[in-house]
Amino acid sequence: GAVELGPYRHYMQKEIFEQPRAIADTLEGVQGIVPELFGDGAYEVFKKIDSVLILACGTSYYSGCVAKYWLEAIAKIPTQVEIASEYRYRESVPNPNSLVVTISQSGETADTLAALRHAQGLGLRHTLAICNVATSAMVRECALAYVTRAGVEIGVASTKAFTTQLAALFLLTLALAQAKGRLSDEQEAAHLKAMRHLPAALSAVLALEPQVISWAEDFVRKENALFLGRGLHYPIAMEGALKLKEISYIHAEAYPAGELKHGPLALVTSAMPVVTVAPNDALLEKLKSNMQEVHARAGVLYVLADADTRIESGEGIHVIRMPEHYGQLSPLLHVVPLQLLAYHTAVARGTDVDKPRNLAKSVTVE
Ligand code: G6P
Repeated sequence: GAVELGPYRHYMQKEIFEQPRAIADTLEGVQGIVPELFGDGAYEVFKKIDSVLILACGTSYYSGCVAKYWLEAIAKIPTQVEIASEYRYRESVPNPNSLVVTISQSGETADTLAALRHAQGLGLRHTLAICNVATSAMVRECALAYVTRAGVEIGVASTKAFTTQLAALFLLTLALAQAKGRLSDEQEAAHLKAMRHLPAALSAVLALEPQVISWAEDFVRKENALFLGRGLHYPIAMEGALKLKEISYIHAEAYPAGELKHGPLALVTSAMPVVTVAPNDALLEKLKSNMQEVHARAGVLYVLADADTRIESGEGIHVIRMPEHYGQLSPLLHVVPLQLLAYHTAVARGTDVDKPRNLAKSVTVE
């Protein structure tokens, strides 16, 4: 049936606000971590594989980039993430013990399907789809699958599909860790508890919307923006930059903050807003010195800082205070204000938010 907008102005805004529900639905029925969440025979496959190869496009590619950090840190499984349109046309060295993970909202993206078939053609038989459409070609063609329950996503710029992919990928990380004997019962219980609390944590972040709107008022007149993050949050910076360019048409670029001095610092002036994702993790002190580099060149910082980071607003630095640090699941929270920033900037610029120029929801031709 028709999807109603309700109190929202655009589908994108509605879908951003549906994220607590979408995550709860995606995790519904997950009592404990068992490989069978991914299909019959998953345990045997998870025991056997020795690496992961992730294939995807667009926003789905960025969820794969986050998953790489989780898979290597938690499950200790070497992981490669490839843009589907690159992988399918390059000569690669196939490892038959790799688990091929395709990630897609639609399950019909031409390049991702072609990359999957290419991998199969190279003899990679262990395939798993993370997908929002149960009846899609991708789910049909992969041996294993986890179907996210974001619900129908109408806005061309993906939001709730992304965070539900992250939830599914975190589950996959835990299931692989368990199959490899690298997940204790205590760790499993702690991760499950954190996952179950995600909807409430996301609601708390959505309540920051008024502060994001005031940032958007500054961004309306900008033509460029830089997004910085480190570690797990570098892909979140990339996703924030992608959202901004897709719907507001502002040129945006993401950099891992440590690379700042290898190029983008040359672009920093008082006209350059620098959005910084600042969770209170092990990289915080490094990140603070990167922020100092921007500040010293009169760049204007917009910082999403966890409550306990001691980063304060001041001259040339605007801080939105996020809830307490959410550990490994922090990317699911930090992406939300970036979605809202792109959304409100685009609305203020008067673009067609749900149907940005030249873009399609599902790219089913090459
Ligand atoms: C298009 C959409 C994006 C999406 C990408 C991959 O570019 O506009 O929002 O991330 O395709 O789509 P998929 O359905 O494979 O996730």
